[in-house]
Amino acid sequence: MTATNRPASRLRAEGLTLSYDQRTVATDLTVDIPDHSFTVIIGPNACGKSTLLTALARMLKPRAGQVYLDGAAIASYRSREVARRLGLLPQTSTAPGGITVGDLVARGRYPHQGILKQWSAEDETAVVDAMRQTGVLELADRPVDDLSGGQRQRVWLSMVLAQQTSILLLDEPTTYLDIAHQVEVLDLCAELHAHKGHTVVAVLHDLNQACRYATHLIVMRPGGVIAAEGDPRNVMTAELVEDVFGLPCRIIPDPETGTPLMVPAAPKWYAPAGATSAETTGRTDAGDVPADGAAHDPAMAKTS
Ligand SMILES: Nc1ncnc2c1ncn2[C@@H]1O[C@H](COP(=O)(O)OP(=O)(O)O)[C@@H](O)[C@H]1O
Ligand SMILES: [Mg+2]
Repeated sequence: MTATNRPASRLRAEGLTLSYDQRTVATDLTVDIPDHSFTVIIGPNACGKSTLLTALARMLKPRAGQVYLDGAAIASYRSREVARRLGLLPQTSTAPGGITVGDLVARGRYPHQGILKQWSAEDETAVVDAMRQTGVLELADRPVDDLSGGQRQRVWLSMVLAQQTSILLLDEPTTYLDIAHQVEVLDLCAELHAHKGHTVVAVLHDLNQACRYATHLIVMRPGGVIAAEGDPRNVMTAELVEDVFGLPCRIIPDPETGTPLMVPAAPKWYAPAGATSAETTGRTDAGDVPADGAAHDPAMAKTS
């Protein structure tokens, strides 16, 4: 497909320079978010993932370049109009003191309110549905301040879902969550993408989850540079992980899904109980090193 007949993405960024005062995080960053994709962004700490997401949501004004939403410069929209099309879950948010879960989630309906439009049954349904989807409905009357980090994270996600936008930008939606809730949130994102046709963009740290869920993977390196992007099965290689994260590893097929599974290389000193030294180190010069080191430990020998 050539650049000219490629369908334009609803959300794309062209030639962005992103800075905070004196610090420039990215220069000439161009990215297309494929429509109806589950796009996952991975990359080492501080490489600019959150900065990119905030620029895509118009929360950060680029020094140069432009973000386009539905074919028009995002800067040209009224903020309520952006919020009807695109929702952002920031990496960190602070709730107003004393606010309850239900009231916070209801704030997600703000873009749908107006001077003349009162709170409607539709708003109520959207809020209850969003709380149910993230499993926080039973927390509705609790103050947000009293919740655990994981509960709070699901409340914020709920607020974004209540906004009912067809584009969702989620910055580390699984942070603070136990593994079962991580899977639940990612399954929910996958469902929004697969069954409702939403475009979901999420920053994740777990490369294996990224490979399982992403239909489009974007790998960023420090300096806000895109190192690779595409189908995770083509993108995720040991060379890339070592290059971008500095981590030697192996990539094997995930036994459940067949997607790439990244296994970090064991440190040289690692010797699991019961394994021979040749097995653990892969060396063939082990000679007569005993299979069970413990048997040759004088302290152990006394008791055996
Ligand atoms: N509000 C800010 N003011 C100044 N520097 C910032 C701010 N937010 C982020 N940075 C810096 O910008 C760089 C990219 O940050 P960020 O986009 O948050 O990285 P990531 O999300 O990939 O971990 C980092 O060096 C970070 O310290
Ligand atoms: Mg971040």
